[in-house]
Amino acid sequence: MSNTRGRFSKSADKLAEQYTASLAFDQRLYKQDIAGSIAHVKMLAKQSIISDDEAKTIIAGLEDVRKEIEKGKFKFAAEQEDIHMAIEDRLIEKVGEAGRKLHTARSRNDQVALDMRLFTKEAIADIQKGIRGLQQALLDLAEDNKSVVMPGYTHLQVAQPVLLAHHLLAYFEMLQRDYERFTDCLKRVDVMPLGSGALAGVAYKIDREFLAKELGFGKISRNSMDAVSDRDFILEYEATAAICMMHLSRMAEEIVLWSSAEFGFIELDDAYSTGSSIMPQKKNPDVAELARGKTGRIYGNLVALLTTMKGLPLAYNRDMQEDKEGLFDTADTLQSTLEVFAGMVKTIKVDEGNTRGALERGYVLATDLADYLVKKGAAFRTAHEIVGKLVNYAVGKGKTLADLDMKEYKKFSPLFGGDVRSITIETSLAARNVAGGTAPAQVKKTLAGARRIITGK
Ligand code: ARG
Repeated sequence: MSNTRGRFSKSADKLAEQYTASLAFDQRLYKQDIAGSIAHVKMLAKQSIISDDEAKTIIAGLEDVRKEIEKGKFKFAAEQEDIHMAIEDRLIEKVGEAGRKLHTARSRNDQVALDMRLFTKEAIADIQKGIRGLQQALLDLAEDNKSVVMPGYTHLQVAQPVLLAHHLLAYFEMLQRDYERFTDCLKRVDVMPLGSGALAGVAYKIDREFLAKELGFGKISRNSMDAVSDRDFILEYEATAAICMMHLSRMAEEIVLWSSAEFGFIELDDAYSTGSSIMPQKKNPDVAELARGKTGRIYGNLVALLTTMKGLPLAYNRDMQEDKEGLFDTADTLQSTLEVFAGMVKTIKVDEGNTRGALERGYVLATDLADYLVKKGAAFRTAHEIVGKLVNYAVGKGKTLADLDMKEYKKFSPLFGGDVRSITIETSLAARNVAGGTAPAQVKKTLAGARRIITGK
């Protein structure tokens, strides 16, 4: 542990060493750490803080270290504490004295802030790619089932007919907002903290703008104390991920429901379901269930870091080392969920007989019947009441609305005429020809618009 250097005369307790070490999980930041160090060294040489030769030696050494890690040849030793120390120690071992200059004008506090920002920037790009993949799969499924009708639900009770495509496009919209939220989050992540030192800035003539450019950042941080103690960018990523995962969990719930025998709207591909070890008839939607289940850890990671941060005085505190595992877990979980969902959605088979059957069993055209009476001159509230009574009557007789004869209709209102028979699921859909509605003409437009969003044309 690094406490044996300089000020310390006694080495750390073994357990304390293990307790404080982060190397087991922050080794994942090796690429970001080395990229940050290379940019830093270039800047130090440019500013004549170290010589060009020293810079060359350090950069070559760092590249060797990277190769060692990538080939699995790097020996991570427990007493190295974290990835920053591990890389620096190995560099010094390899290149000697020049390596001891790497940490000039830098602290691990601004170094780790940089690494985490570089990681989060990549994580945003990866998630956005994943979102696009799932949006694409939803659009393809919608397109392939353009004319499939199903009941729309409120309170999970059959409400009004909708196109399946309309229902799927609702998820496209949610994912689009998630995509945009990540773009927005990126603005706050894309800030370069190096040069903040431990907390107060550094006493060397460094070039922070050069560092930002070298590392692909849009801005440099404005306050060194904030820069080393800010973890909002991780919180924002995790919050955005939590919202996205909530959307996926809702989708998961519908997939679970729809693939049940009771609904029978869809069949999942064998590749995305599993059997039961005891009940041979079963095909379980485990992928969807696990996505719903994993939503818990994504929320948990957000709440954990919010709680870690809430009582911390400025500036850096070691508590903040706890930001890592949660961020990595959230990024991995969301990424794999998006990917596996894209595959699952792509291979869904829709059972049109069952989606239509569910419509015919419910009194799904009741609203249209009320709208019919309104067109014949009734006030909407009156029409609503008349149709309510009519439905109640039909339920009592065990009949659907289509089973009733004209005499029965007329008993409830003289406004009912023979043309009431022309109200069908198709006329119901077509009537909702309002922007954003489920009329086929509207859904076609929305689908085309959605395609344009994801192709950027
Ligand atoms: N492993 C530490 C972390 O992740 C790196 C920064 C250490 N800074 C310090 N002053 N001990 O937060």
